[in-house]
Amino acid sequence: MSQSIQNSVAFVSGANRGIGRAIVESLLTRGAAKVYAAARNPDALADLATAHGDKVVPITLDVTDKSQVTAAASTSADATLIINNAGVAANTDIFSDDLSDAEREFEVNYWGTLHMTRAFVPNLKTAGIGSLVNVVSIAGLTNFPMFPTYSDSKAALHSLTVGARHVLSGTGIDVIGVYPGPVETDMAKNIDMPKASTADVANTILDGIESGAEEVFTDEVAKGFEAPYVAGHKALEFGTREMMAQG
Ligand SMILES: NC(=O)c1ccc[n+]([C@@H]2O[C@H](COP(=O)([O-])OP(=O)(O)OC[C@H]3O[C@@H](n4cnc5c(N)ncnc54)[C@H](OP(=O)(O)O)[C@@H]3O)[C@@H](O)[C@H]2O)c1
Repeated sequence: MSQSIQNSVAFVSGANRGIGRAIVESLLTRGAAKVYAAARNPDALADLATAHGDKVVPITLDVTDKSQVTAAASTSADATLIINNAGVAANTDIFSDDLSDAEREFEVNYWGTLHMTRAFVPNLKTAGIGSLVNVVSIAGLTNFPMFPTYSDSKAALHSLTVGARHVLSGTGIDVIGVYPGPVETDMAKNIDMPKASTADVANTILDGIESGAEEVFTDEVAKGFEAPYVAGHKALEFGTREMMAQG
């Protein structure tokens, strides 16, 4: 299936900067009726709300805070395009004495998205239609040695994305995994590689949603992962679907 951006009501986490902010701007440029823009500090959304009036609704949301997640889902019950973009990255050595950053990566990237899924899917089921879009990473498909525990957390998020797609199959809810390579944001500031712009990545994500894609590879580096993904991971996902269908 596919969802049109024009006249859509969307929800974006981590909307204050980086890829999330670019997604909000792109949604508005492409005719979204309303965007719930969520951030830990909603003051950082004031300029967007001023520029776009009622079309931008700032929401206070730390995805690790279950009461804020529940409140966000209640406030934005009419949103049918849910973009789970919030994420953190560290470059923790797996043999370090301090694994708190690694735990934080799982808290935000995996558990935060799971809380969001549990809170927002009932709204989509009520609407009978919707898209759940998880911003994963190519680091969720193979482990990058410069940020091994981030890759672990994104592999868990990738698995959550595939799992949600299995479970929600036939409900009218699309589950879309987004797999960026390096993008020009604070998160990637120490990566010494050519990086895609946030605007290009945001537009590619919205193109993917409109085309009905189950995966979006957002940039040149990411596109190099697409064919191996389809031959490997996706073939296994289809195989699992067939096994489930046969009981
Ligand atoms: N940049 C890349 O190269 C790249 C590549 C692949 C995937 N990604 C993914 O793309 C997504 C966006 O990243 P980005 O590059 O735009 O990074 P970014 O500029 O560092 O932005 C991260 C966003 O996530 C928010 N966030 C962090 N922890 C949060 C929490 N507990 N609850 C709610 N929001 C939280 C941040 O809010 P604060 O301002 O409050 O911290 C910020 O808005 C992430 O999921 C990231 O893993 C990025």
